[in-house]
Amino acid sequence: MAEIVVAANWKMNKTVSESDNLIKEILEKIPPVNSVTCVVFPPFLSIPSAAGLIDGSSVNLGAQNVHSAKNGAFTGEVSALMLQDYCSYVLLGHSERRLLFGETDAFVNEKLAGAIECGLRPIVCVGEQSSDRESGLTENVIRNQIKNSFKDIRAINNIIVAYEPVWAIGTGTAASPDDAEDVNKLIREELASIFGSEQVSKTPILYGGSVTEDNIADFLSKPNVNGALIGGASLNSEGFTEILRIACNLT
Ligand code: 13P
Repeated sequence: MAEIVVAANWKMNKTVSESDNLIKEILEKIPPVNSVTCVVFPPFLSIPSAAGLIDGSSVNLGAQNVHSAKNGAFTGEVSALMLQDYCSYVLLGHSERRLLFGETDAFVNEKLAGAIECGLRPIVCVGEQSSDRESGLTENVIRNQIKNSFKDIRAINNIIVAYEPVWAIGTGTAASPDDAEDVNKLIREELASIFGSEQVSKTPILYGGSVTEDNIADFLSKPNVNGALIGGASLNSEGFTEILRIACNLT
């Protein structure tokens, strides 16, 4: 049985003081989460302060992006070596990185190798666009993203994958739980063809895209949906801790 992970991607929202306040509120309201791994992904600037606040709590901290190199002439970038002092998770290949900043599967693959080397736990994001789905290309797109992102990666242990269909992100139109289950199942199959089914049976595969407290239970009722990556609904402490509460009650 795979671990259940509930993760908050704040994207480019919250100043440092707003982020501190949100973390404090989450810490006040969070239910006991023994059965669920909780991770928050604030913007880079808020990470050092957030690291101090979450210390000793059940909240884990991650970065929304990382460069593949440890250091060098990469103006504006942040490396895993720099992040590892503050956080333990990193998001890789989010569709906003892919579509707005030109990240390719090959670059996601390099970042994955770099993150693993520095001991960060990656959440690798994949997902099709609406035009892919309309043309019946979802399976192809997802299998290719997995194959290319995991090229030459030796072990799957400690890696999390998130299926985030681009058309469901920030739109209020989530995928149906059945569609999420179908794609997560094929992600597991594709990973199993690389790493073997025993290893991959323990890999958390999340769903992301318009997840709220109203639909989280339906997603978590599916055997291959092992948690959620939440954007908009994670920007307030009530919504996020309610999602956590529901997830904990179900596991
Ligand atoms: P929303 O929950 O706002 O749709 O965002 C999902 C997402 O992109 C999380 O990474």
